[in-house]
Amino acid sequence: MSIEQLETIAQAMVAPGKGILAIDESSKTIAKRFKAVNIECTEENRRDYRQMLLTTPRLGEHIAGAILYDETLRQSASNGRRFVDIMRSADVLPGIKVDMGTTALAGFPGELVTQGLDGLRERLKEYVSLGATFCKWRAVITIAEDSPSSACIEANTHALARYAALCQEAGLVPMVEPEVLMDGDHDIDVCYDVTEATLRSLFGALYEQNVLLEGTILKASMVLPGKGCAEQASVEEVADATLRCLRASVPAALPGIVFLSGGQSDEEATAHLDAMNKMGQQAWPLSFSYGRALQQAAQKKWAENPAANVDAAQKILAKRARLNGLASLGEYEPGMED
Ligand code: 13P
Repeated sequence: MSIEQLETIAQAMVAPGKGILAIDESSKTIAKRFKAVNIECTEENRRDYRQMLLTTPRLGEHIAGAILYDETLRQSASNGRRFVDIMRSADVLPGIKVDMGTTALAGFPGELVTQGLDGLRERLKEYVSLGATFCKWRAVITIAEDSPSSACIEANTHALARYAALCQEAGLVPMVEPEVLMDGDHDIDVCYDVTEATLRSLFGALYEQNVLLEGTILKASMVLPGKGCAEQASVEEVADATLRCLRASVPAALPGIVFLSGGQSDEEATAHLDAMNKMGQQAWPLSFSYGRALQQAAQKKWAENPAANVDAAQKILAKRARLNGLASLGEYEPGMED
């Protein structure tokens, strides 16, 4: 894979009016989501659910790529067609989550580090042979009384940079995701400072590890007050703080930034993205890579009656994809929700 090919994939992931569908929940996480909607977490149900999502008519109109979990990348739809082939026909790039989740960071109680570097080179080779074009690795930064520590930020950004270098060696575009969690009662300024420190550390580490920025996508969390903070922020305040933070820490060479939704409501996630894009052109396209904010309404409808509600659930997903596609262009209006 040449440098140009990596750049072409990265640019396609943030093509105008399109974003990424994150359906890469591990079996443990999807079990939690299914439990909330009374669905048993069997392999067949996971397959049927992801089949519903991936066979949504004209999914590729607003979805450039979808991030899968290991099991899904290997699965086929009920008609025997591989999900990867279904995605390709729909013009949706197959992506794969390659981290192995978080573990406690030794010496720093309450802080987490993401694991999965051991054996990654071999796993990436297999993912290429299965049809993956891009990857995702999520680091988790928690805000609390005395955290994050700089040791936690550095351990995580170092791992992200090592992962990104291995991806590019294998011909895969790395999506680097340092998620600053919304949990806590901190205010928006604290979130700004932690996000800025994390991003600066990340881009320093990517530079150290010789990662080609032009072939890398950043998956960022928005700058928001903690969920428990008494003073919540307006849509404009979130958009303004997030843009200032990104401009202060993300090189212009990056082909695009996509956001995670992180526990925001569907409408909030769309409105925040739209507000940023209404604030004028930035150095990078700003789009979405939502998990919950794209799936949760469709998931609820599907779970009410999986045999009968496939069309209705797909319509809900298609609507959220379209509205987020418009938000990525700054062309969304809240009235479009009705
Ligand atoms: P949410 O949009 O639900 O935060 O998920 C995105 C994701 O991929 C988290 O890693």
